[in-house]
Amino acid sequence: MAFFKKKQAGEAEIDLSRLPKHIGIIMDGNGRWAKKRGLPRTAGHAAGAETFRSVAYYCRDLGIPYLTVYAFSTENWKRPEEEVSAIMDLLRKYLLEALEKMQKDGFRIRFLGDITALPEELRDLCLETVEVGNQVDAKYQINVCLNYGGRDEIIRAAKAWAKDVAEGRVLAEDLTEEAFSRYLDSRGIPDPDLIIRPSGELRLSNFLPWQGAYSEFYFTDELWPDFDAKVLDKALVSYQSRQRRFGGV
Ligand code: FPP
Repeated sequence: MAFFKKKQAGEAEIDLSRLPKHIGIIMDGNGRWAKKRGLPRTAGHAAGAETFRSVAYYCRDLGIPYLTVYAFSTENWKRPEEEVSAIMDLLRKYLLEALEKMQKDGFRIRFLGDITALPEELRDLCLETVEVGNQVDAKYQINVCLNYGGRDEIIRAAKAWAKDVAEGRVLAEDLTEEAFSRYLDSRGIPDPDLIIRPSGELRLSNFLPWQGAYSEFYFTDELWPDFDAKVLDKALVSYQSRQRRFGGV
């Protein structure tokens, strides 16, 4: 049975019984948002982090169990040191806040990406966040891609699998897609149904290439700090207007 989210006149309705289980978002456009306002790029990231918080709570309130956000890619280290450290500071701030609120607000956080390369304090905070989150009876999970690149994830998984083969724990001929996906950072997380990229860019940029093989895509021109519940609603209406066939007819 379909039941609909109440909308204001003129707005399309969202069928709450057919929501995606997992949404991935490439949080793009922070720099351009800041430039338009004559602000430093770091102000764009600060505004983007606020948007992340409100979108995350909106997804939770709608009942979407998994949200994955691209926070820092393996290529983002090439940015000026000041910008990299501002992003790391924001992550620290929001993780500390999440640590406090996870239990009360019923969510947990996981990380996708090679967190071993992060500054030690932030890496320890990530590990603590995962540990505390594991104790929460969470209906909702946020996955933060941090020092993440999809190809890097696949290479790390392939190395771990090859080691298991070399040491006799698994047989090479037994490899299946399902078995391989257990070596990925995303193990245990369903594939994203919908991937959203704001800011007018029409690329995947190494975000979940394995997991997104059958995802629906939604591209929009809003810059990430301007992204809000209304834009997400539009993405959901668009998603619900599509027929997913997974290669069938
Ligand atoms: C892309 O915009 C954004 C990033 C590389 C950083 C995203 C980080 C945050 C939103 C802050 C912390 C995250 C969390 C989860 C609290 P861009 O800088 O490439 O924008 P541009 O293309 O306009 O330059």
